[in-house]
Amino acid sequence: MKSVYIAGRSGTSGLLLHEVLQKREDIRLLAPEVQGRDALDRETELLNTADVAILCLPSAAGKKALARITNPTVRVIDTSTTHSVADGWVYGLPELKHGQRDAIRQARRVSGPGCFATGFILALRPLVDCGIVDPATPICVQGIGGYSAGGKRLVEWYEQPEGEAPPQVQVFGLNLEHAQVPEMQQHTGLQRPPLFVPWVGNFHRGMLVSIPLHRDWLRTNASPASVRDVLRDRYAAERLVSIKTRGGLLGSVALSQPLGIGVELFVEGNNDHLLLLARLDNLRKGSAIAAIQNMNLLLGCDEFAGIEENACGG
Ligand SMILES: NC(=O)c1ccc[n+]([C@@H]2O[C@H](COP(=O)([O-])OP(=O)(O)OC[C@H]3O[C@@H](n4cnc5c(N)ncnc54)[C@H](OP(=O)(O)O)[C@@H]3O)[C@@H](O)[C@H]2O)c1
Repeated sequence: MKSVYIAGRSGTSGLLLHEVLQKREDIRLLAPEVQGRDALDRETELLNTADVAILCLPSAAGKKALARITNPTVRVIDTSTTHSVADGWVYGLPELKHGQRDAIRQARRVSGPGCFATGFILALRPLVDCGIVDPATPICVQGIGGYSAGGKRLVEWYEQPEGEAPPQVQVFGLNLEHAQVPEMQQHTGLQRPPLFVPWVGNFHRGMLVSIPLHRDWLRTNASPASVRDVLRDRYAAERLVSIKTRGGLLGSVALSQPLGIGVELFVEGNNDHLLLLARLDNLRKGSAIAAIQNMNLLLGCDEFAGIEENACGG
């Protein structure tokens, strides 16, 4: 039986991962009670015993944990942004391009995609690949996420505020240097970093990423319908990416629950300008589901084992 160790199990992502993986009969979860800070030696031993170690830690703590893995047979998934564009690491988005799944299967080090980046890359990359968007185009993107995207401290801040009630919506990353920008650029093939404006809302989970594309930036005539077809072709065989058309009240794309386990892509706008939208749950495909997919590929299991509609709460 294959063994897995989750470092950072008490965190927002780690807890969900643990919840799903403990139901698996084909996997042995190593010592979930052990957590790094209080038991460094024991954790080091576990990190070096597991077939797969999943680091659900902030970037700095993840780097330290990685440095303690000396057993070359241990395969690592790092859910932080630290290695998202690093040499020697495979980007853990199986739907990225042809051959990505095989690259993950053979990898020793896999970098879990950022939550905003997952939506951005899945929406935009096919348009770059098929020549609708010139890779030299300066792209702007906005994304709003629930506060769980900021980890347990932000969850506490929103859910148990000590002073004034937290604002309904906040913009952050005002220096336009969000940690996910490098992966957004590299894994779409853009020649320059996209300008990413992130927002956080007063809701627990869920994420909407929007990319407006001006007519002048498109190389070919493209309508919402034709771009939808491009995305449908590209993701026809993918179980976790779906192309939706608006439904419901006035055709809005809302962040209502449940958001499902995958990513929903929408193409809106008109025959001049396009609006790409990606909707996902930051804690599912934006984090824990992606980690499980990658773990399954590394262990030679069915990629979707343990991933069902109710995986990782709702
Ligand atoms: N949340 C999301 O939607 C999301 C999505 C994609 C990727 N990620 C990435 O996943 C990673 C974990 O995110 P998260 O939201 O789960 O974070 P989190 O809720 O803040 O949890 C962090 C975990 O790391 C532990 N930890 C923190 N500092 C540590 C240190 N110095 N040494 C040892 N352990 C330490 C915490 O332990 P304590 O309980 O003791 O504090 C906790 O178990 C981050 O790199 C994040 O960027 C998160």
